[in-house]
Amino acid sequence: MHTVDANGAHIPAIGLGTWTLEGNHCADLVQAAIESGYRHIDTAAMYKNEDDVGRGIARAGIARDKIFVTTKVWPTDLAAADFRRSAEQSLDRLGLEQVDLLLIHWPNPAIRLGETIDALNAALEDGLARNIGVSNFPTALLAEAVSLSSHRLSVNQVEYHPKLDQSKVMAACRSAGMAMVSYCPLGRGLDILQEPAIAAAAKKHGRTPGQVILRWHVQQPNVIAIPRTTRRERLAENLDVFSFDLTDAEMNAISALRAANYRICDFEFSPAWDV
Ligand SMILES: NC(=O)c1ccc[n+]([C@@H]2O[C@H](COP(=O)([O-])OP(=O)(O)OC[C@H]3O[C@@H](n4cnc5c(N)ncnc54)[C@H](OP(=O)(O)O)[C@@H]3O)[C@@H](O)[C@H]2O)c1
Repeated sequence: MHTVDANGAHIPAIGLGTWTLEGNHCADLVQAAIESGYRHIDTAAMYKNEDDVGRGIARAGIARDKIFVTTKVWPTDLAAADFRRSAEQSLDRLGLEQVDLLLIHWPNPAIRLGETIDALNAALEDGLARNIGVSNFPTALLAEAVSLSSHRLSVNQVEYHPKLDQSKVMAACRSAGMAMVSYCPLGRGLDILQEPAIAAAAKKHGRTPGQVILRWHVQQPNVIAIPRTTRRERLAENLDVFSFDLTDAEMNAISALRAANYRICDFEFSPAWDV
C-alpha cells in the first residue's frame, strides 16, 4: 500500500470513510475492508459509530500497528476539558489505547484556537494520539494553527474532488510538510462520475470512473483519499488504484473540472473558505 509521509506520520494513501455507516453493517464493512487490504479507517465522534468501527477492527484481528485509525473532535468540544473528554471517550468507544491521528473536526471561532491546539498537543504528549492535525482549516487558520502548535501537525482533512479547487490549501499543506486528506473524494458519487474527462480515462484504462477519480487524488503529491462505500463489493474497487497511471493530459483534464467550484460540505458554521 502506497503511504504518504506527513511530518512523521506514515499514512496509507487510501482509507475507508465511515460517515453514515452504523451498527453491524458498519462493523462488518470495516472488518471486510481490513480483510481486503485497507489499512486506514476514518471516523469521528460525530459519526456515532466509533464503537462499531472498533468492533470491526477487533474482529479483523489485525495487529494494532498495521492499521491507521483517525478520529475527530467536534467543534462544540474544543475547550480544553471538553476536548480531552471527547478524545478519551472516542478511545473508549473504539476500544483502542491511542488513535493514529486525532483531528479538530472543524474550527470554532467562539473558542480560542490556542486553547484547542494546546489540548491537541496534550493529547499527543499523553499518548492518546500518535499524530495530530486539523480538518476544514482554510489557509489563514491553518497558518495560525501551525504556528501555535509545539508539535508538528500531520494533516488538514478537507473536501476535495475534481469539481473543487483546493490548490491554495494543498500548497499550504505541502509547504508545512503536511498531507492533505480529501474527504468527499468522489464528490459523493453523483454527476461527477459521468464527466467526459473521467469517463474517457476510465474507458482508456479499463477502470471504473470511481477508480479514475481516486487515482487522480493519490497521483498528486501528499494527497490521501478516504472514499466511503456502503457496499462490500466496492471496497476492493476503491482500493485498487495503485497499478495504473493517469497521463499528464488526463490529470490536467480532470483538474480542469475545478472551474465548477462545487462545495458539498458548507454550513452556517463553516469558516471563510479560500477563494
Ligand atoms: N472532515 C469532515 O468534515 C468530513 C466531511 C465529510 C466526510 N468526511 C469523511 O470523508 C469520507 C468520504 O466522504 P463522503 O462519504 O462524504 O463522500 P464520498 O466518499 O465522496 O462518496 C460516497 C458516495 O460515493 C459512492 N461510491 C463509493 N464508491 C464508489 C464507486 N467506486 N463508484 C461510484 N460510486 C461510489 C457511495 O455509494 P455506495 O455506498 O452505494 O457505494 C456513496 O454514496 C466520509 O465517509 C467521512 O469519513 C469528513
